[in-house]
Amino acid sequence: MTDAERRVALEAIAAEVRDCSRCRLHATRSNAVPGEGDPQTEVVFIGEGPGQNEDLEGRPFVGRAGGLLVNLLGHIGWTREDVFITNIVKCRPPGNRDPEPDEVAACAPYLHRQLEALDPAVIVTLGRHSMGRFMPGARISQAHGTTGPVDPATGAPDATVFAMYHPAAALRTPSIERESYDDVSLIPTVLVESRERRREKRRPRSETTSAATAATAATTATAATSPVGPVIVDADADPTDQLTFF
Ligand code: URA
Ligand code: SF4
Repeated sequence: MTDAERRVALEAIAAEVRDCSRCRLHATRSNAVPGEGDPQTEVVFIGEGPGQNEDLEGRPFVGRAGGLLVNLLGHIGWTREDVFITNIVKCRPPGNRDPEPDEVAACAPYLHRQLEALDPAVIVTLGRHSMGRFMPGARISQAHGTTGPVDPATGAPDATVFAMYHPAAALRTPSIERESYDDVSLIPTVLVESRERRREKRRPRSETTSAATAATAATTATAATSPVGPVIVDADADPTDQLTFF
């Protein structure tokens, strides 16, 4: 998909979401919150559902939890405009209750289509509910800060999933906030490794393992010398498949 096609696809999904009445949450929302960010990004953050501020503005993570998410991104030199931010359900559950399974199921096709269009290298799940979609059966206390393979049925078969606590949990508990800063600092390395895995997967069979081994060594060196902060993009990477983070 070209950049222009991706933009069109994401805007079409957003328009449908704003008009959607597939589940009961449409009746109590002020605004649906489709999600937003860089259509070319390699990294998608997925929260649970809009809260009060998000419902009023129609934008994800603009309240206090959003402030912490922006600070976490800033810790690795990124901004919210560098990534794509969305939620499992696009309309606010009344009183911020957990979304019901039938609401999650009704909304799932939108997230699936967003992930298909974005084809991210990394999906960062924020909180238990989001993690549950991508790493079924995992426990957040153990899975946060770790990666897992993605379920291909989620629309992003080539992504690596990385679990984090929800920023709202971090706001409530200082130790979780500290762990969230530790966790977020791992994302640049997870991204470099996911890029490499995707490149291997897409490499024509005729290219032999010696080239693959050299590429892996180069990436390992890059990852080792940049544990946090700017991700150094390999010179031989496909430029159409790279984010312009830096
Ligand atoms: N919490 C979420 O899970 N998503 C938002 O967009 C805001 C707060
Ligand atoms: Fe539609 Fe999702 Fe909103 Fe339900 S939560 S009304 S499925 S956009």
